[in-house]
Amino acid sequence: MAKFYLTTPIYYVNARPHLGHAYTTVVADTITRYKRMRGFDVVFLTGTDEHGEKVARSARLAGVEPQAFVDDVAAAYQRQWKKLGLDYDRFIRTTEPRHAEAVKKIYRAVKKAGYIYKSKYQGPYCVSCELYVTDPTPEGNCPTCGRAPEQIEEENYFFKLSAFEKKLLAHYEKHPEFVQPETRRNEVVSFVKGGLRDLSISRTRFDWGIPMPDAKGHVFYVWFDALTSYMSGIGYGDTGPGASEFERLWPADLHLVGKEIVRFHAVYWPAFLLAAGLPLPKTIYAHGWWLFEAEKMSKTRGNVVRADPIQRVVGADGLRYFLLREMVFGQDGNFSYGAVLTRYNSDLANDLGNLVSRTLAMIERYFKGETPYPSAGADRSPEDRDVADVAEKTITGFLDAFDRYEFSRGLEAVWGLVAAINKYLVETEPWVLAEDETRRARLGTVLWTAAEGLRIIAALLVPVMPAAAEQIWQQLGFDSDVAATRLDSLCWGQLSTGQRIRRADAVFPRLEREPAIEQMRALEEEAAGAATTQGGPVAEEEKTWITIDEFAKVELRVAEVRTAERVPGTNKLLKLSVDLGSEVRQVVAGIAEVYAPETLIGRKVVIVTNLQPRKIRGLESNGMIVAASVGDHGRPVLVTFTEDVPVGARLK
Ligand code: MSP
Repeated sequence: MAKFYLTTPIYYVNARPHLGHAYTTVVADTITRYKRMRGFDVVFLTGTDEHGEKVARSARLAGVEPQAFVDDVAAAYQRQWKKLGLDYDRFIRTTEPRHAEAVKKIYRAVKKAGYIYKSKYQGPYCVSCELYVTDPTPEGNCPTCGRAPEQIEEENYFFKLSAFEKKLLAHYEKHPEFVQPETRRNEVVSFVKGGLRDLSISRTRFDWGIPMPDAKGHVFYVWFDALTSYMSGIGYGDTGPGASEFERLWPADLHLVGKEIVRFHAVYWPAFLLAAGLPLPKTIYAHGWWLFEAEKMSKTRGNVVRADPIQRVVGADGLRYFLLREMVFGQDGNFSYGAVLTRYNSDLANDLGNLVSRTLAMIERYFKGETPYPSAGADRSPEDRDVADVAEKTITGFLDAFDRYEFSRGLEAVWGLVAAINKYLVETEPWVLAEDETRRARLGTVLWTAAEGLRIIAALLVPVMPAAAEQIWQQLGFDSDVAATRLDSLCWGQLSTGQRIRRADAVFPRLEREPAIEQMRALEEEAAGAATTQGGPVAEEEKTWITIDEFAKVELRVAEVRTAERVPGTNKLLKLSVDLGSEVRQVVAGIAEVYAPETLIGRKVVIVTNLQPRKIRGLESNGMIVAASVGDHGRPVLVTFTEDVPVGARLK
């Protein structure tokens, strides 16, 4: 059996899992299930990227040891993937000793081959992206995140990346499938053609990393460390029996990545591997971003949407379907709660769900719950053949699309079959045939045809909606595991007759649109609130002191409320404009249940003024109003002064 080894990126622990992360993992899980049904022996690896200066800083801010910090976030990722039913085979954490062994092993191989030297780096560095800013924006900022870099000077160990320019270009030329899709490949090729500079792969500014052998005070650059996880997670660096797995699985067949990290995967990674004399992965496929309110969803932009609230309303399969159907793989996609509901109600509840329930209801009513016989003779009509034709074409079209990772096209093909069967039922009118005893054979053919179509649909949907596909399969009366179906041999005409169906609840119950959207939003706000008020991984008793300098980072100022109004469609939120003396800002605050907007005008309040702006209900909130949280329900009580204080005064 041919092997297929695929990976997601290992997720950066500075952020907790959001929909963007869930997307890469859902795609990987879908490919895993699909390839298994195509007969491959699949291994799917994911994990967490836990080193680097930013993580150390975040841990310090949270008042915990870095290891406690990363343990907590790594666990949050694992919990989230389990909740979404994402069935990875291997999970690697870069703080595991087996990973450190692997990093040291590849480094030694690269060094032995003569590609490491010591030199000084002086220049701009982006701490957020862990990147030397060699090609800054015209304003001198980081080209990836746009933040101002820090100036650093360090004695580092360098990797001779420049020595690989020609070899990489030759590889891209010879293996056009190496970087996908085409647009990303072109970007990578022109980046390399523009010339490669050597790359510093050690750091001395901080120690939260893997120590470099024979280089006191140096830890590995996070990307040298992180990329190696694709090998350490399957036994590279293992001196025991684990090593054989690496022999079997490497090179990876597919690295799935987001478009912003293509360069690391398609330039640095193959260069490290070539230097170490190791085979290169077969394909690096870069997907686009989920945009929310027209920007990339990300923690730093504050426009994050979590998977959990959506999953709680439309189910894990509803979410998976939305992610794969709505976004053309490789391009960016716009997220909105409304779009989730439209897909759910129209495609799942209406088109597919109704087809399942009415077909099964008629088999139950007219054939005592047993799949009827299809007629081979006079009672066959061209319409039956048409459905069979569409089904055969759907199978081929679906396989072709999924082989190319064109998920949305593959799903469109399946919905073409759903539509064809729905149309067939409307045209053949089985409920009318049922009234005429002489048309019983014809009725049997019609319902068998619809059920056979559903069998094919269920099998094709396994990779995308494993639980729903299994439910439909069971309802059709099968005892076997639908995921064991081999897609290569799936074809029309295999549904047995006389099989007892098992009608059950609707697979996708219809949802009331506005309440469902409101529920997702409310759950998201609750989760966002929990993430900020609970502030991460610190258990109450483990809390440590912060220094006065750390406290001084929080800017609290007196402001006067100028205007206040309710945010439509919510009970809790008020939109305020507050005067800070030097400027007037908009702040969205969850105090509407306690404070009527008109009572706030002219009132002095305290605002955290240097909090990262974030969008709440599409409204920019530029600061946070300070309130005591009282009682079990956290009733807000605004901070007030008994003496007069000028607007703009700082609280220290
Ligand atoms: N730690 C690095 C990867 C190291 S791999 C050796 C990293 N981690 S990340 O957590 O920031 O991102 C992980 C993946 O999530 C990336 O593929 C990224 O593209 C994806 N997403 C994060 N936000 C996203 C969206 N808004 N939309 C779609 N995917 C995005 O990079």
